[in-house]
Amino acid sequence: MNYNIAVIPGDGIGPEIVTEARKVLDMIGSTYGHTFDYTEVLMGGCSIDATGVPLTDEAMATALASDSVLLGAVGGNVGQSNWYQLPPNLRPEAGLLKIRKGLNLFANIRPAVLFDELKGACPLKEEIIDGGFDFVVMRELTGGLYFGERKTYEENGVTTAMDTLTYNENEIRRIAKWGFDIARKRNKRVCSVDKANVLDSSRLWRKVVKEVAADYPDVELSDMLVDNCAMQLVKDPKQFDVILTENMFGDILSDEASMVTGSIGMLASASLGDTKLGLYEPSHGSAPDIAGQNKANPIATILSAAMMLRYSFDLEKEADQIEDAVKAVLRDGYRTVDIMSAGKQLVGTKEMGDLICQYINK
Ligand code: NAD
Ligand code: IPM
Ligand code: MN
Repeated sequence: MNYNIAVIPGDGIGPEIVTEARKVLDMIGSTYGHTFDYTEVLMGGCSIDATGVPLTDEAMATALASDSVLLGAVGGNVGQSNWYQLPPNLRPEAGLLKIRKGLNLFANIRPAVLFDELKGACPLKEEIIDGGFDFVVMRELTGGLYFGERKTYEENGVTTAMDTLTYNENEIRRIAKWGFDIARKRNKRVCSVDKANVLDSSRLWRKVVKEVAADYPDVELSDMLVDNCAMQLVKDPKQFDVILTENMFGDILSDEASMVTGSIGMLASASLGDTKLGLYEPSHGSAPDIAGQNKANPIATILSAAMMLRYSFDLEKEADQIEDAVKAVLRDGYRTVDIMSAGKQLVGTKEMGDLICQYINK
């Protein structure tokens, strides 16, 4: 089969990690007889530098016409560019929000799995992580604070800034269904995370999630306040199966979840909607502090490419093969600097990509 992939290298470490993910996809392609055709798309700071905006309408059209989108990361201050000076709708991150909204990718899946091989990189005590853990953060991605009205204004000589958090019941219902559907294929437990003790939007969230739960009698639903959840994630991550939550809470909790798996460089992500067209990207950012140094861990991006094969192309066997290759490389002791521990072999971004390709080929 032929698949058209729009590739967005982006900024900072983005181009380095995307190169490795492409290498791995090509290795899968040649092993299984698929062709992946890539169209490069500018987004983020590099697009601002070239066109003045973070995502042009043509770039958006290319993404929409593709079978799926692979993204590195956008943002950060790199070189001479000072993108932070720009108004919010012209900053690199605005491109990411525009593409998520434009492709209607409201369901963001971030799997947090502790690989046995990475127990040494997990900052939690051995007795807490004994037996490992495997949960998913199911994050609503096109609503909430990210897309509400915002403004900064002057009143009586005082500057005030405002952001608004809005959800309607339909937006909550569709993401809740995703959460329950995913839980059904896993350990059948949904923990819905909100701040219903304070926020109206959370009270509606809780009510609608409960209504949706009625259609899934085989899935157990619990509610948890977000501050407690942040604590429980480090106290006992094993208790979670699917964490279902709104946009901003999911952003923060998924970074926390990534660290308990060993590193932010390990956490993959898939953003999906009502069609097969998805956006696949690591959960981390453009890491400007290590950009261009062959230090970034490409595994989150490579595992995101595996999610693309699974969710957008239904290539289950091929996705498994990537995940198995990643585990094998880790089992044999190879580590990028973010997951390095005593007695292991330090490798760079490129070498890690090469090793994963070699293990696919074995
Ligand atoms: P970040 O995730 O880029 O970096 C945080 C820390 O984690 C840094 O020390 C970095 O070196 C490290 N890190 C991140 N990814 C790594 C990897 N693959 N391997 C090894 N180490 C890694 O977060 P930040 O510094 O807060 O943000 C930098 C820029 O990235 C900001 O402009 C932010 O808006 C943007 N960002 C973009 C995305 C995206 O494009 N999806 C996601 C998050 C942040
Ligand atoms: C992420 C990022 C983005 C988000 C930023 C860059 C807009 O942090 O994908 O987690 O907050 O969604
Ligand atoms: Mn984030």
